[in-house]
Amino acid sequence: MKVFYFTSTGNSLEVAKAIGGELVSIPQVLKNDLTDFKEDAIGMVFPLYSLGTPGIVREFMEKTRLQADYFFAVITYGNFEGGGVDDFNRLARSRGIKLSYLNSIVMADNYLNFFKMENQIESLADKKVPENVMKIASDIKERKSFIKKASMPMKMLSYVARFIYRFQPGTVDNRFSVEDSCNQCKVCEKVCPVDNIVVQQKPVFKHKCISCYACTHNCPQNAIRLKGERSRSRFRNPGIDLAEIIKANS
Ligand SMILES: Cc1cc2nc3c(=O)[nH]c(=O)nc-3n(C[C@H](O)[C@H](O)[C@H](O)COP(=O)(O)O)c2cc1C
Ligand code: SF4
Ligand code: SF4
Repeated sequence: MKVFYFTSTGNSLEVAKAIGGELVSIPQVLKNDLTDFKEDAIGMVFPLYSLGTPGIVREFMEKTRLQADYFFAVITYGNFEGGGVDDFNRLARSRGIKLSYLNSIVMADNYLNFFKMENQIESLADKKVPENVMKIASDIKERKSFIKKASMPMKMLSYVARFIYRFQPGTVDNRFSVEDSCNQCKVCEKVCPVDNIVVQQKPVFKHKCISCYACTHNCPQNAIRLKGERSRSRFRNPGIDLAEIIKANS
């Protein structure tokens, strides 16, 4: 079994690790132009972006040819999923993939524009993350069939959000600024899944940003500010260390 994953702050990696099998990073598949995979079971685990599938996961689905008897997908999200499951199910179907299992799981929301990370960390206990991760991992181990559905208004909401998201320019990284506490450690360069950063005196952003926020959440000096951020606090899933994010995205 192969589990393809994309993560910027570790939530999706926590889920992928709990499911088990061979974990394969989606950014690395794309960077290495890998296309063909044949397994007994294939899964995708990734975060929800703007009520739908992140562009990098969409690109992975469009560029790869996947063959398996059992396909599954798990979408991690922070507060409101809209019709995200339906968005991915339609994408999978358009690639000839019939999912046997499709679920979502609420975790900490790493979207800095809307949320203070200290509040997200505080509210984690209410989200019952460990229980839900275990349930999903056990469903998949038993090769259960289950497709989470979205209501028609939620599907439409996601459709509109996805339409707007498609026009987000790579220059969205102009919203970042770097404080003098930056010590040129290059962690931001290593955790960027699309090689959008090169560290010189300070990080230089190359304007092909996918706004995953891995750089700012994982900066050891907390030196990267986002214009309009709700607070200075940052988040990484407590079960995942920095080396794992670097390994996933470098
Ligand atoms: C660009 C962006 C858009 C997001 N959009 C949503 C959203 O529409 N709904 C939601 O509940 N969470 C949203 N989130 C939060 C993430 O889906 C959530 O925190 C996820 O678990 C992060 O997974 P990761 O740690 O594996 O990267 C968004 C995060 C980012 C960075
Ligand atoms: S991770 Fe932070 S401290 Fe390190 S180079 Fe990037 S901005 Fe500077
Ligand atoms: S520059 Fe930062 S936010 Fe943009 S893609 Fe790279 S890691 Fe993600």
